[in-house]
Amino acid sequence: MVVTPWEVSGEIDYEKLIREFGTKPLTDDLLERLGRYAGGLHMMLRRRVFFSHRDLDLILDAYDDGREFILYTGRGPSGQTHLGHLIPWIFTKHLQDVFSAKLYFQFTDDEKFLISHELTREKAMALTYENALDVMAVGFDPERTILISNMRNAGLMYNRAIEIARHVTLSTAKAVFGFKDSSNIGIIFFPALQAVPCFLESIFEERDVPCLIPAAIDQDPYWRIARDVAPKLGFSKPAQIHCRFLPGLGKGGKMSSSMPETCIFTTDDPKSIERKIMNAFTGGGSTISEHRERGGRPQECPIFLYEYLLFEEDDAKVGELMDKCRRGEILCGECKAIVAEKVKRFIERHQEMRERARGMIEDLFLDRYLERRGIRA
Ligand code: TRP
Repeated sequence: MVVTPWEVSGEIDYEKLIREFGTKPLTDDLLERLGRYAGGLHMMLRRRVFFSHRDLDLILDAYDDGREFILYTGRGPSGQTHLGHLIPWIFTKHLQDVFSAKLYFQFTDDEKFLISHELTREKAMALTYENALDVMAVGFDPERTILISNMRNAGLMYNRAIEIARHVTLSTAKAVFGFKDSSNIGIIFFPALQAVPCFLESIFEERDVPCLIPAAIDQDPYWRIARDVAPKLGFSKPAQIHCRFLPGLGKGGKMSSSMPETCIFTTDDPKSIERKIMNAFTGGGSTISEHRERGGRPQECPIFLYEYLLFEEDDAKVGELMDKCRRGEILCGECKAIVAEKVKRFIERHQEMRERARGMIEDLFLDRYLERRGIRA
C-alpha cells in the first residue's frame, strides 16, 4: 500500500494508516459528541467514511466554550471533479451547516502545475474555475465560503507562505514527503502554501481562530508541517478529520482521473455513466452459478461501496443488500442497474447545481472577499 499526497495505490489498510501516520481513531465517544451537535449522526460518520482525526476533541471543547472555528479544505485542480472528490466536500458542507462555520477552500493550481508536465498555467487556472463550480454545487453557503486560488491569489499567499517556509527545513520536508534530489524546487516549497489557509482567518481577524480540516487521509503529511509551525507563529495547531477513499470502478485502488473508464466525473453524460458502471469490476462470483452458490464479497465491491459510502442513507436497506449479496440472492447485473440509476440521478442534479453556481464563483475568491471587507493583508 502506498499513501502519499501524490500517490494512492494497493490495498489500503486504514487501521495501519492510523498507526503509521500517528493520527487517532474516531472513537464512539467522539462520534456521539458530533451526533449531539447535529441532532443525529451523519451517514458518513455512521459508515466510518471518516475514521481518523487529530485534535477534533480540542476543537469541540473550544466550541463548547463559545469559540467559533473555521473549516478548511481544498482541491488540486488536475482535471474534472469526480465522485471521490465529492466525499469530503459533502461532509464539509454538513459541518458548515451544523457549526455555522466559515469555509476556506483552496485550489492548488500551482501544485498541479508543478507536478504535471501536461498542464500549462492557463489550463491549471481554468480547471480551478471548473472545479469551483463543483464545489459550490455541493451547496456551501456563499455568505460563508471563501475560495482561494494559489495562482490568482499569489501575492497574499506567497507572503504568508514565506513566514511558514522559514520554519521548515529541507530535511523535515524530505522526511515528511519523500522529496528527492530530482524533485523540482517549486514542489519542495509548495507545502508552505498548503499550510497558509489554516491561519488566514486568524491573520485577518488578528486573533487566534482554530481551524478544522476535513480531508482524505493522504493529505495528512501537509498538516504535520502546519501543526509544527503553528505555535511558532502564535496560532493553534489545525485539527483534522480524515476520510477514506472512494474505490474506482476497477479492481482495487481509489477512484482516479488517470483511469477515466473507472471514474465517474461530475461532467459525465448519462450514457457514459451507464457504460462505466455496467463494465465495472464487482465482488461477485465469476459465473452466475458460482455466485448463486457461494455469494459475493460486498466489502470488495465498488458497486456495493457506492451504495454504502454515498448513496443509500437507510441503514436497514444497505444491510439487506449486503446480506443478499453474501447469500448470492442478488446478481451483479441487478445491483449495477440500481446503482447506475442512482448515480445518473445524482450527477444530473449536481450538473443543475453546477450551472446555477456559474454566476456566483467570481465573487467568492479571496481577493474579492478582502475587497468587500476592506481588509488589507
Ligand atoms: N493538495 C490537495 C490535492 O492535491 C489540495 C488541497 C489543498 C487540499 N488544500 C487542501 C485538500 C486542504 C484537502 C484539504 O488535492
